[in-house]
Amino acid sequence: MKFEVITLFPEFFELSLRQSLLGKAIDKKLFEIEIINLRDYATDRHNTVDDTPFGGGGGMVLKVEPIDRCLAALGYTRRGEESQPNGKEKILLTSAAGRKFDQRTAIGYSLCDRLAIICGHYQGVDERITRLYRMEEVSIGDYVLTGGEPAATVIVDAVARLIPKVLGNFESATDDSHMDEIVGAPSYTRPAEYEALEVPAALLSGNHREIDKYRRRMAIEKCLRNRPDLLKQAELTEDEQEMVRQLDENLDVE
Ligand code: ADE
Repeated sequence: MKFEVITLFPEFFELSLRQSLLGKAIDKKLFEIEIINLRDYATDRHNTVDDTPFGGGGGMVLKVEPIDRCLAALGYTRRGEESQPNGKEKILLTSAAGRKFDQRTAIGYSLCDRLAIICGHYQGVDERITRLYRMEEVSIGDYVLTGGEPAATVIVDAVARLIPKVLGNFESATDDSHMDEIVGAPSYTRPAEYEALEVPAALLSGNHREIDKYRRRMAIEKCLRNRPDLLKQAELTEDEQEMVRQLDENLDVE
């Protein structure tokens, strides 16, 4: 799997993606990441990549030509020129106006061979680029960032950790929040007692059925507190639905 991040600020990615687990995974060649400076594809001697919007209004718009040249140089084919639809190659455009990026989207992207991420900037990108190339506009949340770089970092991180072997222990990904539509269960580690706060006995029992049951209950409780919207859509057994009703009645709101 290869990520190709197209940005006006290549330095932004120096630290964030090259350390910790992802840095190690890159060293082990479990995936590749290329950071591409959009200015290298400008068409004039001032390396201009943006311009004022037609029709007026504030801000600047990323020009279509540099992005087109960049995608062509990377070997992406335009709409209608694809030999056959290739679901394994995708172009993403970060934008506050995009479709919501979530765990389900991350799982889908992790199955790609190649993922280009164009970091949007200023007032956005000349819309014609979306007519030239098939691309998905993605938003990482309902707020507006100054640029797409933090969004691209989030996307690369969430997708890369799903690539086989990137996490030492894949169970840690399957136990994640959102993997089964609700948030993950709370975790504990040593010491078993801290200032009279004890780790729940079920987790110390060594009985895996009991541990799983306890974790599911705690995940449902946390979800009810923090993300009741997710619980409404989650597939729960009848026992779990009853559990939600009981928890809901007794939930003390902080
Ligand atoms: N650019 C500006 N805001 C954004 C957001 N919420 N998600 C992705 N890209 C963005």
